[in-house]
Amino acid sequence: MPNLRRLVTLALLAALIFAGVNAAAAQGRQFVNVYSSRHYGAMEQMFVEFTNETGIEVRLSQGSPQALLTRLEQEGPQTPADVFFSVDTGTLVLAAEKGLFQPIDSEVLRANVPEALRDPENRWFGLSQRLRTIVYNPQKVDPSELSTYEALADPKWSGRLCLRPATHIYTISLVASMIAALGEEKAEEVVRGWVANKPQLIDSDTRILETIAAGGCDVGITNHYYVGRLYAQNPDFNVKIFWANQADRGVHRNVAGAGVTANAANRENAIKLLEWLSDAEKGQAADESGLPGGNYEFPVNAKAPINAIIASFGTPKIDDLPLTELGKYQQAAIDLLGRAGY
Ligand SMILES: [Fe+2]
Repeated sequence: MPNLRRLVTLALLAALIFAGVNAAAAQGRQFVNVYSSRHYGAMEQMFVEFTNETGIEVRLSQGSPQALLTRLEQEGPQTPADVFFSVDTGTLVLAAEKGLFQPIDSEVLRANVPEALRDPENRWFGLSQRLRTIVYNPQKVDPSELSTYEALADPKWSGRLCLRPATHIYTISLVASMIAALGEEKAEEVVRGWVANKPQLIDSDTRILETIAAGGCDVGITNHYYVGRLYAQNPDFNVKIFWANQADRGVHRNVAGAGVTANAANRENAIKLLEWLSDAEKGQAADESGLPGGNYEFPVNAKAPINAIIASFGTPKIDDLPLTELGKYQQAAIDLLGRAGY
């Protein structure tokens, strides 16, 4: 059957050509490997936008900040990671101290990211701002009863608090900021007061908010963007934001940010990604195409718009503690939480 043979030959030829084209595309394909502790969707819209604009594919590996830091350290020069992206400044500072980043001399990043929100040696750059503050059930609490993180140590809050466990990096960084502001002794006194109030420890900010809304506790401490997300789903969600410590140092700030790894194989693509993420009209957008907008965070770029839901929370006074201090006191905070029995 010569016709069938011809058909098979043609089909094989077509398959070979197709495979060849694919191999060529794979060789020419640009990509960047990212270790990310953001956990807000398997493939965030901002990475899709970046790929559409630049042709550079983003390959994500996810985990907690501490787990990814350990992995990066153990892999050493063999790591596939080009970018280390963390939802916690303390972890970025530790990665820099361990020599896991390389300094990036970029005029774009210097212009887009304020000095206070990046490493003085340009090894990491904050890309979105998150504020960890007090939240409450308006049926149970009048805002006039609230003031500071420290005041939640008062016995009047006994049995009424929902907090995140000591193992979570958000708790550790908040306590690190209290050590920086108050000194270790006073910070420990405050944490012991929280513990004496027998808080419910819930390892999810969203579940803390849902528990407060359902009347399971009256007051909690969460990152502001979790409230933003729940408001987007339901504008009448029964929890309100209270900006902490407005009469003194201001509300606790952390940033999500990133650096280029010391041995990045795709260094230029990694720099392009960071620059794109810091751009007021691209990665800093206030809708889901941007890093802050997609997660109801505040931008770092002063020229970027602020998401409307977040803007409705008002403009708080923010603790201007240099972010490097969160790394400096991270271990002290872990030790303090342990001593206090938190
Ligand atoms: Fe988070």
